[in-house]
Amino acid sequence: MTVATQTVRDIALENPATIRVFEKFGIDYCCGGRKPLTEACEANSIAVDEVIAALERAAAEPVPQADNWAGRSLVELVDYIINTHHAYVNQETPRLTQLAARVVARHGDTKPELPIIQAKVAELVEELSSHLGKEEMILFPHIVRLERAMDKGQPAPRGCFGTVSNPIAMMTSEHDSAGTLMAEIRKLSGDYTPPIGACPTFLNFYNSLREFEQDLHQHIHLENNILFPKAIALEQGIGSSYQG
Ligand SMILES: [Fe+2]
Ligand SMILES: [Fe+2]
Repeated sequence: MTVATQTVRDIALENPATIRVFEKFGIDYCCGGRKPLTEACEANSIAVDEVIAALERAAAEPVPQADNWAGRSLVELVDYIINTHHAYVNQETPRLTQLAARVVARHGDTKPELPIIQAKVAELVEELSSHLGKEEMILFPHIVRLERAMDKGQPAPRGCFGTVSNPIAMMTSEHDSAGTLMAEIRKLSGDYTPPIGACPTFLNFYNSLREFEQDLHQHIHLENNILFPKAIALEQGIGSSYQG
């Protein structure tokens, strides 16, 4: 199998340094990462050769320790997701809400897309607040219990939701919803391109949305592509299906 026929998700899993390339080209490696690279490039009208050359350059660079989850425990990964990505969402969402209100108040009359973006940001903030709560209160503690039981040679604990695949399916579907909202915001904002001569608040709003999207992609990638498959494999007692 060549890089062109590998899925975007598998390339990102094999070498996390490639994630920066996917971000740069706007290729979805988290929610929609199951497409072969060629197909993902065609969908974005990008030359696959150009992406492969950038991937090869990135692969030659050392992987930052924070991106390398091979051989590390799920407890460590859960802690990292909460302390890095959930903390970031909790810190940024009130700021984005405030910036959206200020930009709409100043420019909403002349930029009809801004109130729509504001409504989608509000929807995203609400969805993420509920989503993070479910992960932190229900799913993540269960994954920690699963790993501890396996370490002690005990049978897999069962949650009130049955198999761990059930809450994982719900969280994955919520990731798709958040990813769709973010993509709609990106489109409405013309890839976060402010108008010429935009005021500092406008620039700050679009830059903050761009950074928020990048963090959300990394966050969802860690959950969809590493944490969740490992938790399902752990419960099934067959070891990890992901060897990265
Ligand atoms: Fe999360
Ligand atoms: Fe999540």
